[in-house]
Amino acid sequence: MEKLISNRSDLQSVPESYILPPGTRPGNVQVSIFESIPVIDFHQLGTDKAQLIKQITEAAKEFGFFQLINHGVPDNLLHNVMNVGKEFFELPSEDKASLYSEDARQSCRLYTSIDYVREHVHYWRDTLRHPCHPLEEHIDFWPQKPANYREVFGSYSVEVRKLSLCLLDLICEGLGLKSGFYEGELSQVQLMTTNYYPPCPDPSLTLGLPKHSDVNLITLLLQEQVHGLQVLKDKQWLAVEPVPNAFVVNIGHMLQIISNGKLSSAAHRVVTNNKVSRTTVTSFIHPSSTCHIEPAKALVMDFNPLYKAFIYKDFVSTYITDTQERVSPLERYKFQI
Ligand code: OGA
Ligand code: NI
Repeated sequence: MEKLISNRSDLQSVPESYILPPGTRPGNVQVSIFESIPVIDFHQLGTDKAQLIKQITEAAKEFGFFQLINHGVPDNLLHNVMNVGKEFFELPSEDKASLYSEDARQSCRLYTSIDYVREHVHYWRDTLRHPCHPLEEHIDFWPQKPANYREVFGSYSVEVRKLSLCLLDLICEGLGLKSGFYEGELSQVQLMTTNYYPPCPDPSLTLGLPKHSDVNLITLLLQEQVHGLQVLKDKQWLAVEPVPNAFVVNIGHMLQIISNGKLSSAAHRVVTNNKVSRTTVTSFIHPSSTCHIEPAKALVMDFNPLYKAFIYKDFVSTYITDTQERVSPLERYKFQI
């Protein structure tokens, strides 16, 4: 528990073990907003579906990221889930201690880093993570405090899963794959995390999360009205502007592989600030661990596949170490041309 960064609120300076090597520090964290990721209106589903599919597919190719507004998940549910997520991190330590674990296999887990012992430098973030689908298999392991945690996160995870699967279907159509392509094993697992980034005495020296791409298929992130998330586009970091009640949607490595490189799992990172804490609630759709993954056959007819086939859990195990070593986890699975 003493490793949690949220338990060290008295820090006046950044401890040595959180200071990034020169050259990898964010430096001035204010990035210029010369370009921003697309904001897409989901309301078009009922009025101009073809246009919606086009916008989503283009954004997923060009940026690997977009924001979605008018998505149908009720505002009060978004508001409640954010508040309950924040309240969890504000609970007294003794209420959180039973969930803290350094074992990545623990179902519902509070931690500060995937691999605190082996990582070269620590990051300014704590996380609560648990699976949520099917709900009845997992909900009994979730936090009991705040008192409405299970109810609010339960309703939210069901809504967000529905929306994620709908987005996968639209992407499927945009790529020319048959409808329902992602159903079943490919999208079986849903993980939810609440990330808490406390204010940091010197944001130029450290990061909330290092540069990475998500490993899964698709991620839906809800952020407070506080800057922090940045996306790499053409070697420039773009700030993801907080848009009220919007989801930040991003493409993970599995969609890049299945789409045979048509969609981009863009790299992103989180910078800190020295004034206020920042909370995000993130839902990840993953394949089952034994799922066989390869570029969709329909997309490699005219081209050679760019990536080799694999079992999902094998990819995940090299993903963690590759990301720590700052190499792209996709490289090992690329065919050499
Ligand atoms: C993640 C992530 C961004 C954020 O959890 O993979 O990129 O702003 N989070 O919390
Ligand atoms: Ni991420």
